[in-house]
Amino acid sequence: MTISPLAELSTHVTALLNRIEQAVTLEELLAEEPFIVGKRSILSTLQKSLGALAPEDRKDAGAQLQAARRGVEEAYATRRTMLEEASRALVLEADRLDLGDVVVTSVSVPLAVGHPGIVAVTQRQLEDVFVTMGFAVSDGPEVESDWYNFEALNIPPAHPARGLWDTFYVDLGEPETVVLRTHTSPTQIHLMESAVASDSLPIHRVMPGRCYRRDTPDARHLAAFHQIEGLVVDRGITFADLAGVIETFTHAYFGADISSRLRPAFFPFTEPSAEFEITCTICRGEGCRTCSQTGWIELGGCGMLDPAVLEAVGIDGDEWSGFAFGFGIDRCAQMRHQIADMRALIDNDVRFLRQFS
Ligand code: DAH
Repeated sequence: MTISPLAELSTHVTALLNRIEQAVTLEELLAEEPFIVGKRSILSTLQKSLGALAPEDRKDAGAQLQAARRGVEEAYATRRTMLEEASRALVLEADRLDLGDVVVTSVSVPLAVGHPGIVAVTQRQLEDVFVTMGFAVSDGPEVESDWYNFEALNIPPAHPARGLWDTFYVDLGEPETVVLRTHTSPTQIHLMESAVASDSLPIHRVMPGRCYRRDTPDARHLAAFHQIEGLVVDRGITFADLAGVIETFTHAYFGADISSRLRPAFFPFTEPSAEFEITCTICRGEGCRTCSQTGWIELGGCGMLDPAVLEAVGIDGDEWSGFAFGFGIDRCAQMRHQIADMRALIDNDVRFLRQFS
């Protein structure tokens, strides 16, 4: 009687199942594959040896071997799936980015979308109001020479009026004094100079942009803030045109129940000059802490172009006249949305911003 090659089958199967269980990583398991289910497996060797059996024994032995193989293959596939999942989880963990609440995985997590800044939104709304009134919009440089920021605006060196603007000076190693513009008024000079050079008067323009002052930020001041400047140069322009533009703008932007008033003031580049105030939007003119019980809030300055300015840019003051105004965009946003502390505008806290959707 010959000993069946399958006499040790169950021992072999147990050994194979152990090898499968002992593979701890996917790599280890894959390296074992030829020896467990592949050509170099003991099962394949046994398969070949079946040929030596008597034909009447072969069928039975074949079925037995087939069943053993199926069991081993199933155990191998199960282990492989498990190790693949574990290895994927490891990769994900290694690729995880520490973004606070946001975890990057292969599943797409909807990301929170930001919100436009209130100042940018306000600037666009202001531009829209002025555009419907017939103004065009342009901008100007934030770094200016002393000439544009001061001298051409009738503020000579050492003039006491310079004290009104706490200036940041930029040291470029140049003999010329360079400053971060303290207001948008220098844009008036650029516009008038290029209109003269290209012979393209009249001008009806607003110029929004960022300005800088050496101010300590508080509830009503920021060191980097925004203004919008207005300039009209045309024939026969009077103070009544200025007052009309200011009042029309105030109603259009703040609403029918908010009015404007002009109070005598001094600015070197306008004569006469005025401060431009609007009804306090907090108390609607009744008087409150924000407006110091006056019912009015100052928004900016304005006036008729000073002859010295027209002369500095080479415009004939006998033929042309004009007015200018300038006011804070951040202040407008604060007044319109009743924001107690202006610093909230630059905190970049999306929970604050979402309130204005
Ligand atoms: N530039 C002035 C400031 O920042 C505001 C101002 C006053 C602008 C009078 C003007 C003006 O255009 O005519 O304080």
